[in-house]
Amino acid sequence: MELDLRNLEPRHAHDLLTSSIIPRPIAWVTTLSGEGALNLAPFSFFTGVAWNPPAIAFSVVNRDDGSRKNTIVNIEETGEFVVHIVSANLLVPMESSAKPIPAGEDLAYVKGIHMVPSTAVKPPRIAEARIAMECSLDRIVTIGEGAGAGNLIIGRVLLYHAEQGLIPNGREVDCSRLDALGRLSGNRYCLTQSVIESETN
Ligand SMILES: Cc1cc2nc3c(=O)[nH]c(=O)nc-3n(C[C@H](O)[C@H](O)[C@H](O)COP(=O)(O)O)c2cc1C
Repeated sequence: MELDLRNLEPRHAHDLLTSSIIPRPIAWVTTLSGEGALNLAPFSFFTGVAWNPPAIAFSVVNRDDGSRKNTIVNIEETGEFVVHIVSANLLVPMESSAKPIPAGEDLAYVKGIHMVPSTAVKPPRIAEARIAMECSLDRIVTIGEGAGAGNLIIGRVLLYHAEQGLIPNGREVDCSRLDALGRLSGNRYCLTQSVIESETN
């Protein structure tokens, strides 16, 4: 089977890409609007970019009606955000934070998490997240325009928080303790429990 993506209907391209690029880590991102309103949302088009300087990236894709999501608007306004890694125990609050905030409500409708102040940036961080990375905006790279267009947000990691005991040797995260969720497509996720140790590396 061969598919020409130059002519494919955008939602079909979405389904193909999100079911092919698996599993994806999830960046759970807090931002503040220019007026100080808190926003929280997950993004699984997420990866590392560099370690000198330490940098990470995630892509905020425009909604089907072409409008821009709060996260990109806020980051453009303030230049700061916090990226959290989602452990399995945070699946429910993570998913509920993906829904648009009901009119007149604040983030209190996302049950099971609490915000605590960050150290280097203004957006707060989630106390329950085992890893939180405080970031400043390096640049935004936009691909396409209108519905489905991507805004790749590249951030420099200024400050890193890890839960007590998560980094037993002081250098490297213990992946079984982190218990990070991987995104498959739709509402399917996986865990990183079946680890293969290669003998050639
Ligand atoms: C697990 C998960 C991963 C997601 N990944 C992305 C993504 O990579 N890019 C994106 O634009 N939206 C993604 N979404 C959808 C956004 O979280 C959703 O559109 C959210 O309402 C955006 O919020 P905001 O307008 O407050 O920024 C994802 C949703 C879930 C549940």
